[in-house]
Amino acid sequence: MKIAVLKGDGIGPEIVEAAQVVLNKVDEKFNLGIEYAEALFGGAAYDVYGNPYPEESQKIVEQCDAILLGAVGAPKYDTIEPADLRPEKGLLAIRKSLGLYCNIRPIKYYDFLADRVIWKKGLLDGLDIVICRELTGGAYFGKRGHDENSAYDTISYSRPEIERIVRDAFEMAKNRDRKILHSIDKANVLDSSRLWRKVVNEIAVEYPEVELHHLYVDNAAMQLIVNPTQFDVIVTENMFGDILSDESAALGGSLGMLPSASLGGKISLFEPSHGSAPDIAGKNIANPIATILSAAMLLRFSAKNEAAARAIEDAVNAVLADNIKTPDLADETSKVVGTMEMAQEIAARI
Ligand code: IPM
Ligand code: MG
Repeated sequence: MKIAVLKGDGIGPEIVEAAQVVLNKVDEKFNLGIEYAEALFGGAAYDVYGNPYPEESQKIVEQCDAILLGAVGAPKYDTIEPADLRPEKGLLAIRKSLGLYCNIRPIKYYDFLADRVIWKKGLLDGLDIVICRELTGGAYFGKRGHDENSAYDTISYSRPEIERIVRDAFEMAKNRDRKILHSIDKANVLDSSRLWRKVVNEIAVEYPEVELHHLYVDNAAMQLIVNPTQFDVIVTENMFGDILSDESAALGGSLGMLPSASLGGKISLFEPSHGSAPDIAGKNIANPIATILSAAMLLRFSAKNEAAARAIEDAVNAVLADNIKTPDLADETSKVVGTMEMAQEIAARI
């Protein structure tokens, strides 16, 4: 199992190194034969090659079975011209070039974080949502343009692009206990959403066991706050998914807890859903759990090793249950640990 390691910028290097500590422990326990191949990515790659996803890194990635990515971006790169060379564009390029159209972001409620969330006690009991975000279409990749005084982006989706992500979401819903799928769009306004909804309804015929609901994105944003446990699997287009996944991260207590898997090609990519947090970079205080849980998803989806994935997830739960927390999660009763110590605590419980 060869893993491409793209640490990126900001807190990227420290959270990825923390995840590697945990992966190494799992490797030892489960005999996975993990090998790493490091490559520069994001601003770190721009500094050396003038490109956030240079050919040198692409070559390394293409020889691997899966990718573990930290985060990209920092204020000093925000003014790079042309904007196509900014770190975030590297992220879009790697997603697109590897055909990673299906982004999975699971959101769970951790009762040991009950005091961290803004919801009343009990309201989140049993919360277990999977957001299935389309990742290689829509406004992120549509026709765009600008001059001095005007600019535009376009959302465009083809039928096959919608079909494949929607089918994946139905499959996922079908294999879960509650078998509920919410498709989220803006079909009262957008043509692309009207096609989206039509395709969803067509595919729904193949999945009679799945309970399907359509929601407009504005309503969905509100429902996620007022009645989040109604959701099971959510499927939506790229930009709506980006926004709703950050919103949903609040349900899990911290954006630092939200992992992600990007699937659909030969090589899958695993990264935390959060950004590079330049303000806390290099201080050993960032929460590595989203990256560690992304490594668990790597073992589940790329290595097809459910037991190894579970071992990581159980160890994360055990550490939190022991009230060992990074500063973003801690209260006065917690034992506060740094990024690397958190990884060691998790590894020790595997
Ligand atoms: C995410 C991020 C990215 C996105 C940014 C960094 C380009 O917010 O993975 O959710 O918008 O997809
Ligand atoms: Mg985002």
